[in-house]
Amino acid sequence: MTPRRIDPVRAPLEGEVRVPGDKSISHRYALLGGMAEGTTRIRNFASSEDCRATLSCIEALGAGVVRNASRVEVHSPGWRRFTAPSRTLDVQNSGTTIRLLSALLAAGRFSSRVQGDSSLNQRPMQRIMEPLIRMGARIEARDGGLPPLLIQGGRLTGIRYRLPIASAQVKSCVLLAGLMAEGETEVEETGPSRDHTERALPFFGAPLIQNGARLRVRGGARLHGVDFRIPGDFSSALFFLVAGLLVPGSRIALRGVGVNPTRAGFLSLLEKAGIRVERSDATECNGEPVCDLQIHADPEVRRQFPSQISGDWVARLIDEIPALAILGTSLERGFQVRDAQELRHKESDRIHSVVVNLRELGVDVRELPDGFVIPPGSRVRGGKVRTFGDHRIAMAFALAGLVAENPVELDDPDCVAVSYPDFFQHLEGVCRR
Ligand code: S3P
Repeated sequence: MTPRRIDPVRAPLEGEVRVPGDKSISHRYALLGGMAEGTTRIRNFASSEDCRATLSCIEALGAGVVRNASRVEVHSPGWRRFTAPSRTLDVQNSGTTIRLLSALLAAGRFSSRVQGDSSLNQRPMQRIMEPLIRMGARIEARDGGLPPLLIQGGRLTGIRYRLPIASAQVKSCVLLAGLMAEGETEVEETGPSRDHTERALPFFGAPLIQNGARLRVRGGARLHGVDFRIPGDFSSALFFLVAGLLVPGSRIALRGVGVNPTRAGFLSLLEKAGIRVERSDATECNGEPVCDLQIHADPEVRRQFPSQISGDWVARLIDEIPALAILGTSLERGFQVRDAQELRHKESDRIHSVVVNLRELGVDVRELPDGFVIPPGSRVRGGKVRTFGDHRIAMAFALAGLVAENPVELDDPDCVAVSYPDFFQHLEGVCRR
């Protein structure tokens, strides 16, 4: 692990960035491509290590995968002909892979074992085990519902399931399992969460019926392959939007970014606060809205950005909270996050990771069970940051380095590859030192 030093910038940020393909959507198209019969062609597939893990898992189930840079082809005989993996499936650091893939394994006529790296193996799986077991799968985990999971798949039966938490991973797991079950499956959402699975299904030939918060799919689905270009990842673009807002006078253009409203909650927050982000060249790819974004640093952001994130907003911004914490240090009214206990179950305990690192940089932040409070008038002095192997903590604190009084040193910068291998090159590309 070679540490990386981020020096404060002396001039506004300027330039153009094309962020990698969306990680959440890439996982879904790879898995649905594996479940479908025939060929799925995906352009702008995420460069993320997490998505690479998903591809190697569907290969292990018998699908053929051909990858050429960001182009991926999945050739599959379809979910009915999945074959038993000859080895333990390794999802590495990817929570989305293990939770969605478990649906495919639950429907297979074989037993399988799936696990990840040491951080993933501490993340809760009970949330997907419970509905899959109700559908007829047999699943064993370590105490507390932790991976490795041993899954004895077989014939599944449709269920009606009310999600106990707002989680797109759990929702998607049940919907995918529902497609391979007998009868109908209904999932009821308790709060909004990203809807990429719902938007993708009709393109693969699996209609989804939506009635308010209730989503229904019919079992025994026959899926066919699709051609698709993945939009740029909003959660990656977010780091540049925040960087642009942190450094006065900055102008950054982001090309081809997915702005699905269940993901782009940050844009809604800015727009509500009267802060302008220019959108241009709007299009749609398979039901996913895409456009270019241009941010001009607006000093009003310090006064007008909301001083609290809570309730339903949390699920819409869940992956952005580490970067928002850095923006929060610059806000005139301070910044607090509440109702975000789910952050404790991400790639690291993100409440703890944010709090210990902000303290290390000189910010007097208070930790709460479900969030944190950053007081107004905070100064970011600089210092050494522990990433806890968490890509979003590394990228968020790199932004702190741009505006701190002294450099910020990240202990393990390479973990950004989990979602955005070129992050530091792209960041340096817009910094003028
Ligand atoms: C994701 C859903 C979210 C998010 C994760 C990706 C997805 O997790 O934090 O990074 O692709 O469905 P939860 O569904 O657990 O909230």
